[in-house]
Amino acid sequence: MSNLIAPSVLAADFANLQRDIEMVNNSDADWFHIDIMDGVFVPNISFGMPVLQAISKYATKTIDVHLMIVDPDRYITTFADLGANVLTVHYEACTHLHRTIQAIKTTGMKAGVALNPHTPIAVLEDVIADLDLVCVMSVNPGFGGQSFIENTYKKVRQLKQLIEFSESNCQIEIDGGVTDKNASKLIEAGANILVAGSYVFKSNNPIDTIANLKALVN
Ligand code: DX5
Ligand code: ZN
Repeated sequence: MSNLIAPSVLAADFANLQRDIEMVNNSDADWFHIDIMDGVFVPNISFGMPVLQAISKYATKTIDVHLMIVDPDRYITTFADLGANVLTVHYEACTHLHRTIQAIKTTGMKAGVALNPHTPIAVLEDVIADLDLVCVMSVNPGFGGQSFIENTYKKVRQLKQLIEFSESNCQIEIDGGVTDKNASKLIEAGANILVAGSYVFKSNNPIDTIANLKALVN
């Protein structure tokens, strides 16, 4: 199975959004990573449904939506209708996580759960078999451009073990501070999807940056 690169649109130029979406379409990237923040679960507001609708209109690759919002159950069908292919909710934002995961899967989307840096892998033990993806946050969610937290490697190894032990098909995504400096080590630890925002969009040549990152991990 090849390892995937998911550029985070949060770091795109919103005044040239169509251009940046088409850049990703034409690149070696695999997924679009879309960060939705509500200013309550995280101390920042990113963008909402109309912007996702505009992205969906042009995106030709898998749309991976990362919800950093409280009570995400309210919007599961809305995100499915807007074209999301993968919907990830935060463990810390869901009181009835099992129910939320089933509700996501009922729509036909793949179901993901994200863990904040302080949340141990063990909390997923009883839902891992139901999950398509776990997003291990390697920064505190809320902002792009933060530094990678080194403790992530340990968590990825623990998660990989849990997945193997449960015979789950779950994929491991890393989100936050991903660069060419940590990408290979993350894959070695067991990750197979790397989200990269600033590293891609703030580089001089995003197409080349994506190609280099993709080649580095495959
Ligand atoms: C952080 C978001 C990330 C962010 C990553 O809350 O979930 O997806 O866009 O950005 P970089 O790669 O710049 O850390
Ligand atoms: Zn994200």
